[in-house]
Amino acid sequence: MTADKNKGAEGQHEDASATDRITHYKKYIQHYQAHCDRWLPRLADVKGKRILVLGSGWGTEVLWCLRNGALDVVGVDPADRPTQPLDAAIEELPEPVAGTFKLIRGNIIDLRGGQDFDVILSNNVVEHIDSLKATFFSFRRFLKPDGRVSIFSDPLYYSSAGSHLPLSAWEHLYKEEDEFPAEITGRQRSEFRHMLNRLTFMEYLSVFRESGFILEDLFIIPDRHLRHFTSVWPRIQRKAFPLDLCLEGFGCRLAYPSAY
Ligand SMILES: C[S@@+](CC[C@H](N)C(=O)[O-])C[C@H]1O[C@@H](n2cnc3c(N)ncnc32)[C@H](O)[C@@H]1O
Repeated sequence: MTADKNKGAEGQHEDASATDRITHYKKYIQHYQAHCDRWLPRLADVKGKRILVLGSGWGTEVLWCLRNGALDVVGVDPADRPTQPLDAAIEELPEPVAGTFKLIRGNIIDLRGGQDFDVILSNNVVEHIDSLKATFFSFRRFLKPDGRVSIFSDPLYYSSAGSHLPLSAWEHLYKEEDEFPAEITGRQRSEFRHMLNRLTFMEYLSVFRESGFILEDLFIIPDRHLRHFTSVWPRIQRKAFPLDLCLEGFGCRLAYPSAY
């Protein structure tokens, strides 16, 4: 997987000057702290822990972990994400952080592990991973036997906003790509085609199940456009089940039986 393939919404400031880019991505990291504060505390206890962030991007969740007292945080992402924006965001915190961090460019499937992480945390990433089962199987190499995997993701592909594009609710499911509005750029179309694994919620659960995990906690975020569901459903019904379409996102915490 190349860095180019992974330029998502957070990766669209590639042409500006180096200083502008650092400021842009620092603000991106800072902006999404509120999202992390809202959804991650229920899923991940990071204080005093070693955390592996899967799909760390520019460092949004790494900063959240450090702000919440993590001991050491390792971020892994196939895309090239230099640390200057994260360094700058850490500098601007009101209190210094005690924990340390490192960002690794790579795919967890290819990395060696020492079963020394307390938590694997992944936020808004699982819908982008093309070999999800192999990824979840690899967790055994990194997680302590009593560790936890904390996953949050929104929007899912089959949700109303699942295209990650400026389209109407579920438009990506009831129109062919060549019928999308002309304003959708070639790059956006390419990201739509190549950067989303198009798994249903049930398929995520199957991956967790087949990777040997216990489900400790699970919450869903109902789709915010459910009131329009009946008007679009007749145009989609050959492609999905109602259950696939009604979930905007989910959060869950997983453990191996050895945690008990
Ligand atoms: C929407 S971004 C989210 C980044 C970060 N978690 C955040 O919220 O700021 C999705 C990220 O998933 C990463 N990604 C894609 N495939 C991946 C894989 N197989 N393993 C880990 N990360 C992956 C992309 O490179 C990208 O950084």
